[in-house]
Amino acid sequence: MEHLKIAIGSDHGGFKYKQKIIEYLESRNIEYKDVGTYTPEACDYPVIARDVAELVVSGQSDRGILVCGTGIGMSIAANKIRGVRAALCGDTYSARVSRAHNNANILCLGERVIGEHLALDIVDVWLKTGFEGGRHKRRVDIIE
Ligand code: RB5
Repeated sequence: MEHLKIAIGSDHGGFKYKQKIIEYLESRNIEYKDVGTYTPEACDYPVIARDVAELVVSGQSDRGILVCGTGIGMSIAANKIRGVRAALCGDTYSARVSRAHNNANILCLGERVIGEHLALDIVDVWLKTGFEGGRHKRRVDIIE
């Protein structure tokens, strides 16, 4: 997973977890691009979601991580961009299967919903899990 290039972003509601996830990425030498927000001041999550989504669908980043208060706004906004498969995860099982079955290319998290350590476990599992392909590829192809 060290070779993955990650795009990461949050609004003010997810700012603290974004910084924690960045610490995690740095500790594992994972390359990342932080699109902001860069301060705890209020900002608009759809702008951040778009910036991460465009990095992912253009191939400049392999996958993206988005954090807001609930993760819901980020997932709604990111999934508007063609080619995005954003998964809002609050548990490690969903995180694993969102990769294995859905080939999710963006992970969304809610800072106001789940604890910090769970969020980091979800990131860890999500980054380490590959797409299984096979019958799941057929289904993802139907979405695309
Ligand atoms: C910001 O207050 C909050 O609405 C945002 O972080 C997010 O939860 C939206 O879905």
